[in-house]
Amino acid sequence: MTATKQNGEALAVEVWRGAAAGRFQQFRVRRRENQTVLDVVTDIQRDQDPTLAYRFACRVGMCGSCAMVVNGRPRWTCRTRVAAALGASPVLRLEPLRNFPVVRDLAVDMGDFFAKWRAAKGHFEPGAQPAADFACVPPASPQRQAADAGIECIGCGICHAACDVVAWDRDYLGPAALNRAWTLVNDVRDRGNLARMQAVSAGSGCHLCHTHMNCTQFCPKGLAPTYAIAGLKRAMVARALGRAR
Ligand code: SF4
Ligand code: SF4
Ligand code: FES
Repeated sequence: MTATKQNGEALAVEVWRGAAAGRFQQFRVRRRENQTVLDVVTDIQRDQDPTLAYRFACRVGMCGSCAMVVNGRPRWTCRTRVAAALGASPVLRLEPLRNFPVVRDLAVDMGDFFAKWRAAKGHFEPGAQPAADFACVPPASPQRQAADAGIECIGCGICHAACDVVAWDRDYLGPAALNRAWTLVNDVRDRGNLARMQAVSAGSGCHLCHTHMNCTQFCPKGLAPTYAIAGLKRAMVARALGRAR
């Protein structure tokens, strides 16, 4: 079926309504060429039910706020076309992200998620005497390359929603917070690695990851939290052997 032929046809949509308890509600939305999943949600809220709760901001893949489960898969909805999300399915099914408390409908509470970033010391620590001038960090240096590999995270929570270990152990820091920690471990300007490595090596830290790659498979930015976590595990062992950077 071509995009032109789809134009104007009605699309069947099932949307989760409620919080932890709720039900799917059926809607029909007019198909449009190059329509995104976020366009569909917006059409429903504007034209059919203004009480539908969901979250978005930038609409261009930068803010990380529009993530939902679309036909069983966590996705950024502003950059996901309906045709790609449907595949062979005749119905678009929308649910809130897994592993997050649901506020209402498609909106989840990100509070614990970002608390884990704080717990993993996912903030830049300049130290007691930060340099007065700009740092010069060679782009080709191994540490700069390792930091750059994970720096484009938009905090969407998709990896967190896809991680089975987060589902089993709600205290696990999770792939996004650990990926952030790894970028900072490799930031030569940062002075907070002792506390950071202690945080990510603790009971709910990086050793809980069992490397099944869901986070890396679904990250819409093409990042690889699995490898970042593997880096943290190596750094943890190096510290235990007295070979810390
Ligand atoms: S690789 Fe680790 S962090 Fe990523 S989804 Fe699997 S268990 Fe979770
Ligand atoms: S690592 Fe990827 S999937 Fe996880 S929060 Fe960052 S951008 Fe989203
Ligand atoms: S609305 Fe900002 S990433 Fe989708």
